[in-house]
Amino acid sequence: MNQPKRYTVTAALPYANGPLHIGHLAGAYISADIYVRYLRLLGKDVIFVSGTDEHGAAITIRAKKEGISPREIIDKYHEQIKKSFQQFGISFDIFHRTSEPIHYETSQEFFRILNEKGAFEIIESEQYYDEEAQQFLADRYITGTCPNCHHEGAYGDQCEHCGATLSPTDLIHPKSMISGQTPVLKKTKHWYLKLDEYQNEIKQWLETKKGVWKNHVYGQCMGWIDTGLQPRAMTRDLDWGIPVPPEIEGAEDKVLYVWLDAPIGYISATRQLFKEIEEKKYSFAQPQSPLLLEKKADAWEDYWKSDDTCLIHFIGKDNIVFHCITFPAILKATGQYILPYNVPANEFMNLQGGKISTSRNWAVWLHEYLEELSGKEDELRYTLIANMPENKDSEFTWEDFQARVNNELVANLGNFVNRVVVLVHKYYEGIIPHPGQLTTEDQAVLAEIPLTAKKISEAFEHFKFKDALALFNELSSVGNKYLADNEPWKKIKTDVAATKRIMYVSAQICGALNILVQPLLPHTAQKMSKILGVQQGLWIENETEFISTGTVLGKPELLFEKISDEIVEKQIAKLGKKEDIVLQEEVEKSDCPPVKETITFDDFAKLDIRTGVILSAERVPKTDKLMKLEVDLGFEKRTIVSGIAQHFEAENLKGQKVSVIVNLQARKMKGIDSSGMILMSEDKDGQLKFVNADTIPGDIIR
Ligand code: MF3
Ligand code: ZN
Repeated sequence: MNQPKRYTVTAALPYANGPLHIGHLAGAYISADIYVRYLRLLGKDVIFVSGTDEHGAAITIRAKKEGISPREIIDKYHEQIKKSFQQFGISFDIFHRTSEPIHYETSQEFFRILNEKGAFEIIESEQYYDEEAQQFLADRYITGTCPNCHHEGAYGDQCEHCGATLSPTDLIHPKSMISGQTPVLKKTKHWYLKLDEYQNEIKQWLETKKGVWKNHVYGQCMGWIDTGLQPRAMTRDLDWGIPVPPEIEGAEDKVLYVWLDAPIGYISATRQLFKEIEEKKYSFAQPQSPLLLEKKADAWEDYWKSDDTCLIHFIGKDNIVFHCITFPAILKATGQYILPYNVPANEFMNLQGGKISTSRNWAVWLHEYLEELSGKEDELRYTLIANMPENKDSEFTWEDFQARVNNELVANLGNFVNRVVVLVHKYYEGIIPHPGQLTTEDQAVLAEIPLTAKKISEAFEHFKFKDALALFNELSSVGNKYLADNEPWKKIKTDVAATKRIMYVSAQICGALNILVQPLLPHTAQKMSKILGVQQGLWIENETEFISTGTVLGKPELLFEKISDEIVEKQIAKLGKKEDIVLQEEVEKSDCPPVKETITFDDFAKLDIRTGVILSAERVPKTDKLMKLEVDLGFEKRTIVSGIAQHFEAENLKGQKVSVIVNLQARKMKGIDSSGMILMSEDKDGQLKFVNADTIPGDIIR
């Protein structure tokens, strides 16, 4: 797109069903924030909108778990999420909510337009229904095995493992999330978006993105197109959600599908933003770009309906289908809205050798980080940028965090700025000297500034934030090297004029870094401005003077501190620990080892399992675990060696009923022939219990 007039930048609306973790930041919000701050640095007209997604089963299921109402859940987590974003410097112009009236209006209006344009077909079908809960089970109310990748925790609308969009009836072994029961089928009708009819248009549009969008995003989209788009239900039989407009006949008691209303949330947020701008009453921060402050309420339309607007969605990879296919189809069907110019989705960030899992508490929670490592927000931002999962999954470890802070932030940027400021204070009472005549070396060093800035711009434009960070660090290294090569601390004794030049040039590099750091590390940018005694300005191409002669520097202050081993150890020790009751419950469920490979009935029938009774028991000498048992199986008595000696006393075992696999090949253990195996159950603390069939020895178990 050449020179758009304005930018609309969105970041996925997180579900208001739990706190944020580093995976959220790394997935969408830091990249979005960098990009937006970069555009603002160029003085562009840009809005940055997001908010919480407050409908759908994600909310109601959480409410049920915490034993409070959905309303209480969304209020609690909206506030917490908003605060975390603010503290990490994610500079939204508005952070809205999908429970707001203006969002209800906007969403219902969309439904009406789509209905009028003939975008829906009404289909009656049999859907899963939980008889116990008396509720239809759509989306996250139902889980089962993914037909695509065989992941066992797939939801009724999506498998988060492989990204497939699903319908509940696609799931293998469907199970109700409410009661755990296998649901029954029951008839109901819904309004389906005719995605099949938009297939060609969407495909043609997507093809224009080849080589422009990230490969993994483009590839996923084309994958869906190639499998063929199916009509998708946009209504649900639920009591939590936005009602279908009342005039639509036959849809009483139905609500909008959460993935219909949520992305419309970007538009409602925009409407609300401009309403607040006109009224000069801001629910979030004051809009960041001064260009916005003069606008009127109806300006929102320019940001969504004007061809010279560049719309960019920042999301994680599990949201690709909805932002690249479903939502564009909806926007297109209205005949009024623009389509996204780019959807630079990130992949996932793993943590300390494992997948981030909220249920296993394998996560770094932002609200906890903000408490325990307060003041180190940029240190986390830095590490997440350096490891950003731009094109493939990546990993965060606390050891890497420590190394990045200590060896990069402290040793490079922090050290350079501090040396310059301390020396200017020492030699010139904190006032930037007049440089006199610059040497060719000085000029060459200064020329690095616009060169690097240009490369950084290009990296930002192409959503290559890791590259941008590396380039930024290079400029700081140039500064450090320049100081080390020129040794002003020696020259001050021999060459007063040279020292002035050196300190002036070094200060210019600091000034450039101060501007370039703004999109990446906003807290650091503020601190640097204070230390350097300059305002945070716009980026000016080809500029080489950032702190003019005579500028009075602020007090020297360290930008970063080293991270101790103790912090690292403490944070690692915390991972995976159960937190509150809700988590605990989930942990117990997910701690169960995965189900083994499916076997046929014939495989099972090969096992001969019988009831037996222990006649006598004695420990096998020189072993800890083994117990020698005489077992009466009704049809014969056998000797069986079993690994239960750490769990039972021999004298208590006489008369114990047990289940025995009697056709297992005999084996010698510590010189004793063991013919058979006793079935035991093991709980999660490793305690063994007998699988006890209270029947007569010799009875068959099957
Ligand atoms: N709440 C969704 C999630 O966390 C994202 C919604 S993005 C929006 O996966 F486009 F729908 F807003
Ligand atoms: Zn799957």
